[in-house]
Order: sequence, then C-alpha cells, then structure tokens
Amino acid sequence: MQYRNLGSSGLLVSPICLGTMTFGAPVGEADSIKLIHAAMDRGINFIDTANVYEGYKRFLGSPGGVAEEIVGNALIGRRDKAILATKVAAPVGPGPQDRGLSATHILREVDRSLQRLKTDYIDLYILHWPDKEVPLETSLAAVDQAVKAGKVRYLGLSNHYGWQICESLWLAERHGWPRVVSSQIPLSLLRREFHHDLAFCRKHNIGVTPYQALQSGLLTGKYRRGLPPPTDSRAAEKPDWIWKLEAPLFDRLERAESVAKELGVPMSQLALAWTLTQPSVTSPIVGVKRLDQIEDAIAAASVKLTADHVKQLDAACPPPWTQNDPVRG
Ligand SMILES: NC(=O)c1ccc[n+]([C@@H]2O[C@H](COP(=O)([O-])OP(=O)(O)OC[C@H]3O[C@@H](n4cnc5c(N)ncnc54)[C@H](OP(=O)(O)O)[C@@H]3O)[C@@H](O)[C@H]2O)c1
Repeated sequence: MQYRNLGSSGLLVSPICLGTMTFGAPVGEADSIKLIHAAMDRGINFIDTANVYEGYKRFLGSPGGVAEEIVGNALIGRRDKAILATKVAAPVGPGPQDRGLSATHILREVDRSLQRLKTDYIDLYILHWPDKEVPLETSLAAVDQAVKAGKVRYLGLSNHYGWQICESLWLAERHGWPRVVSSQIPLSLLRREFHHDLAFCRKHNIGVTPYQALQSGLLTGKYRRGLPPPTDSRAAEKPDWIWKLEAPLFDRLERAESVAKELGVPMSQLALAWTLTQPSVTSPIVGVKRLDQIEDAIAAASVKLTADHVKQLDAACPPPWTQNDPVRG
C-alpha cells in the first residue's frame, strides 16, 4: 500500500478510505466490525464516518450515532492504527440546536462523537455541509477550541465550494486558527460539479477525499440496460440512495465499460483509478458491503491510467454530470 499525504497535515493515509454510511443497516454490527478489521489488516488506515450515520435506517433528524458506535467498538485495541474522520452539521434531532455549525452544536457533538468512538481524539473533524445561518468564523472558532482541548487534531470541510474553502483559509490565517487540510466532495466519472475546485485545492495543499467515486455502485458494471437491478444491490435495497437507471446513464456506463475492457480491469477499478488521477485527490472514500468490495477497491489503487485513457473516459462521460443527487451523506 502506497500511503499518501493528506494535504498539509503530515498524516499518511491509504489511497482508499473506508466509508461507513451503510454500517448499521444493511451491514449489521458484527459484519461491519469484520469489514473494518479486514480493511485495516490489508493496509487501509483511513476511516470516514459521521455523527449521523446509521445506514439505511437514517431519516432527516434521526439521532444517528450507530456507525460511530460500531467504529468505536471495532477500534478497541487498534485506535492508534487508524486515521479517523467524523463529521458534524446534519440534523440529529428535531430541536433548533440539533443541527448545523453553531459553536453550541459543534462542541456538543464533538463530545458525543468521542464518547461513541471510544477515543479521546478525532484525527479529522469535518464540517459536513456549509451552514448559511452561521458565520464561518463562529464554526472555525469552535473547532479551534476543540483542537486546543486536544479533542480534535485537524479540520476538514465537506461539500464546501472553493470560495468557501478560501474564506476558511483567510480566517485561519487572520486568527491563528487551524488550517483546513482536506475537502470531502462528491466526485466520480459521472458527477463533477466540484471538479473546477480541485486546482485550488492542489495549489493550497488541501487533500481531496471524494465520496461516491463509484456513484453508489453504478460504476461497477453490475447494472445492465433493460435488466432489473441485482437483488442485493443498492438500487434494489435502497433506491432512494441511487440515481435513476435511465437510458442516458447507460449510454455513459457502456462507453466507460468499453474502456475498462480495453484495459482489462473491472469497471469499478477503472472508476476509482480515474478518481485517483484527479488533481489533489488523496483517497476516494469507498462504501462497501462485502469483503470482495474492499479487495476490489484496494486493487484499484494499483491501476495505472495513461493520459489517453483519461481522455477516453472523459469523452465517454460528457456533461451534464448530474442527476438530482438523492444522497446527503
Ligand atoms: N460528505 C458527504 O456528504 C457524504 C455523502 C455520501 C457519502 N459519504 C461518504 O462516502 C462513503 C461512500 O459513499 P457511498 O457508499 O454512498 O458511495 P459509493 O462508494 O459510490 O458506493 C458504495 C456502494 O457501491 C457498491 N459497491 C462497492 N464496491 C463494489 C464492487 N466492487 N462491486 C459492486 N458493487 C460495489 C456497494 O453497494 P451494493 O453492494 O449495495 O450495491 C456499496 O455499498 C460513505 O460511506 C460515506 O463515508 C459522504
């Protein structure tokens, strides 16, 4: 495993980060722990969770915490081997202070996450989404407090545009607050609305950790035009967490698959390898349900794409790079 620098943090992380959004349901606790251990035994040291993750049972405002509990249990005796990322902002209840990026919510949720994760520090604390009601100064000052208290080591941002990351850098410099080290954004062959921010991240040494590089499993070759989705797939089990299986999508998937065939690699590995070639990308965060999916993701980190392959893939998956995104991780 070739470890990579996570932005300016000095942390060396695996080129694949283990996502935990499906832990709790459909992946139960015992299987989730087995997957975490198997990933770590194979060299993955980077784990991404969030205070709200509880698998497919999650609904807007549900209390979450399930995936963090599972990760905490999995890391008993192994905490120092992991770089652990968790997030704050999404609603965890119906009350006005149960969401967002106020100091009250952030500082309460840091403590709750620490308790569930059974650790006394979080390596990477991520502001999950921008909060338009709260000045960024307020949120960064709260993270600074958590860092000074030894509860958090580094700051990450998620779903923030380049200009918002830039604002956080100005504020950090002005106030001596922690500098953002990573940006977690959606990015795949099929979805690129944040792509133009990658050059900014590279220039300012911010590690990009894309989520849904497999576009919820669409970029794995398992969905076929005109056929129902496989019974154990996300499209069958949780259709509101995946794009609609429409003809224009299959046009792109089939063209990308022909490049995978030419290269002699599975479509999933090609999709992850494409993400890994993008500027400033450190580690795509991959969601998994089974051990073979972890092994597939690890193999993708060794796939080498030439500039010509990247060009062919870009031609295979032209804009528009969106469907309404159903997943708010
Ligand atoms: N910051 C945010 O707002 C945000 C939002 C979303 C996600 N995230 C993070 O990103 C992680 C990944 O997100 P995600 O799980 O939605 O997207 P993903 O990684 O694109 O998709 C993962 C799903 O694809 C399928 N899959 C994975 N490897 C496969 C393989 N080799 N062959 C066939 N199918 C395969 C599995 O589903 P099935 O087997 O069920 O089909 C798996 O659950 C999350 O766990 C979370 O940590 C963050």
